[in-house]
Parts: sequence; C-alpha cells; structure tokens
Amino acid sequence: MKFHVFTFGCQMNVCDSDWLCRSLTALGFEQGKEEEADIFLINTCSVREKPEQKVYSLLGRLQSYWNKNKDIFVGVGGCVAQQIGKKFFQRFPHVRLVFGTDGIVMVPQAISRLIREPDLRLSFLDFEDYYPERENHWPEKMPAQAYVNIMQGCDNFCAYCIVPYTRGRQKSRSSKAILDECRTLVSLGVKEITLLGQNVNSYGLDRFGDGVSFAELLCQVAAIDGLKRLRFTTSHPKDIADEVIKAFGDLPCLCPQLHLPLQSGSNRILKLMGRKYTREEYLEIVDSLRKVCPDIALTTDLIVGFPGETEEDFKQTLEMVEQVGFENSFSFKYSDRPGVRAEKMHHKVLEEVKVRRLAILQELQEKLTQKSYSQRVGKVDEVLVEGPSKKQDKGMKFWRGRDSGGRVVNIPGSSDQDLTGELIRVKIVQAKKHSLLGEMLEG
Ligand code: 5AD
Ligand code: SF4
Repeated sequence: MKFHVFTFGCQMNVCDSDWLCRSLTALGFEQGKEEEADIFLINTCSVREKPEQKVYSLLGRLQSYWNKNKDIFVGVGGCVAQQIGKKFFQRFPHVRLVFGTDGIVMVPQAISRLIREPDLRLSFLDFEDYYPERENHWPEKMPAQAYVNIMQGCDNFCAYCIVPYTRGRQKSRSSKAILDECRTLVSLGVKEITLLGQNVNSYGLDRFGDGVSFAELLCQVAAIDGLKRLRFTTSHPKDIADEVIKAFGDLPCLCPQLHLPLQSGSNRILKLMGRKYTREEYLEIVDSLRKVCPDIALTTDLIVGFPGETEEDFKQTLEMVEQVGFENSFSFKYSDRPGVRAEKMHHKVLEEVKVRRLAILQELQEKLTQKSYSQRVGKVDEVLVEGPSKKQDKGMKFWRGRDSGGRVVNIPGSSDQDLTGELIRVKIVQAKKHSLLGEMLEG
C-alpha cells in the first residue's frame, strides 16, 4: 500500500513527517505521489489562520478521492489536529485518524490496525507527562543535513500564540538520547545538524531537564567527530544565555547564523505581547553576538498589526529592523487565534492597515537583504550542496546549497560529478534577489 504525507508549518513538523515516512517504510509501506496513494497523512499548522485554512481545502480535495474509492483514508496530525480533535470525524467521513504531537509515536502501528479494521477510527490526542522517545528506523545512508528534536512544547504563552495549547508544556528530551541520535546520524553520513525546539534556549530548564544546559548541549554535540556544521532554532531572546552567545565565538562548527524572533520593535507592543524583553535588551544581545562573531547572519520573525499597534509603534519596528540590519525576516499580519490572550484584546488593527504595514516592512527587508547579500560578493565560504538547482542554463548544470550563514547559493558545475551532500569551497561572485551565485574553488 502507498502512503503520502503532506506537511505544513515549521521545521518541527518537517522533522515529524520525516520520522513518519521512515517508520512507515520500515513497516513495509511504500511512499507514493498524491495520485497513487491509499493512505494520506497531513501534518498541520495552526499558528495563523492561513495555514489552517489550507488544511481544510486539502481535506476537501482528498474527500473527492474518497467519494470514488472508499478504501482510502486520511490521518490528520499536528497542531490543527490537537486543536480540533475528534470533531474532524464528524465533519469528514474520510478522516479515520487524528493525532497530536505526543500521539504521533502511535501512528505507524495505528495505520496497520486501520487497514485491518475498516470501521475503526482512532485518536491520540493526550499530552504525556514525559518526552515520548520514538523508535528510529534509519536508512543505510542519510542526506547530509538533518534535524534533531531536543524538546517539545512551550511555556511562554506569548499573547498571540497558539503553540503552548497545541504543543503542550515544555518537555526537554534527555541529553543522552539527543547525543546518541546525533552520533548515529553522523555515522550515517550527516554533516550538518539543526537542533530543534520551540524555545531551545530554555532547554533543560523544565522539570524534565537532566542538568545539561543548552550551552553545554551545544558543546557536546559540536564535539562529535565528523560533524561539520551545527545550527539551532528557534530562540527566544529573553532566554539566550551568555554561554550560548560565547559559543558562536568558541565552537568552530557552530554556523554564524541565528534566527532570533523580534516580533515588534516597540516596547509597548512587546509588553502587550508578553515577550519579556525590551528593544534595548534585544540590541544588547545583537551587539554581544557581533562582538564574538562579526559575520553572524541574523534573521527574525515580525508581526504587524498586533492589537493596539499604532503608526508610531510600527515606525519603531521599521527603525529596529534597519538598525539591526536583519539579513532576512519572516513577517506576518497579526491573525486572531482561538483561545489566546490577544484574541480578547481591544483596538484590533484594520486589515487594510495590516496589509499596508506588511508591504512597507517587506520592502525595507528586501533592501536590507540586497545590502547584506551584495556584501557577500568576493567572500570565500563553504557550501553544503543539497542537490541539483532548479536553475539550469544552456547545457550548464547548476548545484544548489547553503553557505555557513544559511544563504542559498547556486553553483555552476559539471553534470558528470554528483555534488549532492558535498561540502565545497566556493567564492561568491554575484548577489541575486534571494540567493547568491558562487564559483567552486579547488581543494
Ligand atoms: N499572528 C501572526 N503571526 C503569528 N506568529 C505566531 N502567532 C501568530 C499570530 N497569531 C508568528 C510569529 C512566530 C512565527 C512562527 O509566527 O512571528 O515567531
Ligand atoms: Fe505551526 Fe507552531 Fe504548530 Fe509549528 S508548532 S506547526 S509553527 S503552530
């Protein structure tokens, strides 16, 4: 039987979907294209209204397959599943499985049961009081880049955010389990590891912690023989320890790149959001980071039109973005989420105002991205090649990879040599709008 997994949302979901695919393959199922699959799994995101809507339109499309063939079925997992739960069964006849973040561990076995028992529907929505370790079935060789989960959930309850409700309280994974997984991955060919969590900087600080801090974990993972690159995401500015900042200067394999969500440049809005830092504190972190790692590529998340945001507040966000000089940012219009504090706040910002502010912010970001990218021209860096590039020119083969700062680099090369998974030395020769062009150097 063939299965197909759809993934929305963050890297945690990508990581979960990868695990599902490996586990189902180990049980004898075959991964297939949408048109040929019998089992569909959707890993959903509810962080904003838009990704949530996409889930419903996809479910509509899958229902049209079910109308023709009642043997197919759908499992819905992730954040929307946690939020809507068993109500999916009432609304959608083709949904026979719903699972939350902790319940995913049960999914591979559940699929076999659902096939055997056609009238059965199953839900796994409970939060466990521990980090549920998953059995791993690794292939003989892994791609060069891998994600490793180090924690689940979040305790911050920022006023706009649904994650603490959909992913539950913060639960750190044991440092031993993380290190074992990282070592295994490196032995299977992985060169770059990204440690994942909703708020990695508070790793180990919940009651599931085993005494190892995030900074210590970074040092231990970085020491794994054969690991070439280490990254982590996502960080909360209020929790970033001095030792973690220092690690950017001390650990050679820790890439000079940090995603540090700012959300707003106005102290008044930051307070309403419950972010627990000020713009001044954020700028101090940026200064300290640049002292130990002058080349660090900083990226961020920003929300425009949070309830009560005035033109003056928005202006302060623009100023901050310019002052920090972010390489890149993900910016979003504030979107009401069910049950979060901001949903009940007054002075909601009009849609047209949000649209205008987002456009202004994104225009500024384009300018800053161009500026940073053009400063890369002439630099020599290492690029980890992900595979052939979409860009192919008149018989010339292009490879696509990422430099140490995480920027996309396209590199012309010959087609008789497969560079996938290779870490190559490259000279940056041109800055494009969203990527760089590099030239391969010998040796
Ligand atoms: N509305 C808009 N953006 C949001 N984000 C989280 N919740 C909301 C919301 N209700 C954004 C934040 C976060 C990113 C993952 O999504 O910027 O960092
Ligand atoms: Fe979306 Fe957040 Fe859930 Fe990730 S954790 S899937 S970003 S709501």
